[in-house]
Amino acid sequence: PAVDAMVAALPKVSLHCHLIGSVAPQTVVDLARKHAVALGRSADDLYDHSSYEDLGEFLRVLDVIGSLIRDVEDFSRVTYESLTAGGADHGVLYREVHLSPPGHPGVPYPRILEGVLAGARAAEADTGIRAGFVVGICRERSGAAAVELVEQVVEHRADEVLGIGLDYAEVNGPPARFAEAFRLAGRAGLRRTAHSESGPPHHVEVLLDELGCSRVDHGYHVVDDPAITARCVAERVPFTCTPVGSDIGRYSGSGDGTHRRIAEMVDAGLLVTIDSDDPPMFGTDPTHDHRVLAHALGWRRDRLAALTRNAVEACWLDDADKAALL
Ligand code: ADE
Ligand code: ZN
Repeated sequence: PAVDAMVAALPKVSLHCHLIGSVAPQTVVDLARKHAVALGRSADDLYDHSSYEDLGEFLRVLDVIGSLIRDVEDFSRVTYESLTAGGADHGVLYREVHLSPPGHPGVPYPRILEGVLAGARAAEADTGIRAGFVVGICRERSGAAAVELVEQVVEHRADEVLGIGLDYAEVNGPPARFAEAFRLAGRAGLRRTAHSESGPPHHVEVLLDELGCSRVDHGYHVVDDPAITARCVAERVPFTCTPVGSDIGRYSGSGDGTHRRIAEMVDAGLLVTIDSDDPPMFGTDPTHDHRVLAHALGWRRDRLAALTRNAVEACWLDDADKAALL
């Protein structure tokens, strides 16, 4: 239908997409064969999102995929594919890719960096898509491990690495544990974001006040607290929401799975952006994310284009590069 064509053609800016969660099933098969790893299950089974009982189970599938991405060529390939078939082909002009160095055991950070930068350069040359990178701290690990990772990021500084994030299971890693790592990043001029997927709403305040975050990933619980919501509206804090990815009904217990929560956030005046989180793992892509909102909420071009403008405002490019995007 016409709506689907409009959605497909819409320019998009992607701020919440994890590299490990964007590997195409065939690429997983190829990498397993290359590294002589027996997966013990088919890629279709691995990617069957109805089989993820909870966030924890989903994250352990990410561990399997992450462990298959090992050398520079692997990182370059998955980055290239995320940016081209997974991005540019859906009208994505710019993507901030979330990396998870702890998700690739035994791989030194400089090797990851070399691979992803090569993949991004090739993707830009072939399609024009631009990319930045966000280095995600694994919140299931210690505060000291987080500090070490930030030290690596600072030591091996690259212009394309714009900032740090905080992901994996919030129940196993409250944000305050990472205050020191985030302070270090802030002093080094890195931008900061963090996942807050399961709440409580107070965690959003911790992100802003103790971690110095300029964005929140997910954050659906914020509207349960009118005072924190009002503050975020006033400060224009961006929330990178994922209507299909990390299903908000199942994983954060805050929604009914019909995207009402995202509509509520937009209606409250919050600065909302739309993304996939882990596209093939949730059976989605940038076009589908927008299509789902168009169909579930009746949103048309003006409302969807406003989400793209929000993402331009929320992204970590400098003002001149932002102006050149749209
Ligand atoms: N890493 C990839 N996807 C994630 C999610 N939805 N929550 C936390 N960490 C993640
Ligand atoms: Zn995420």
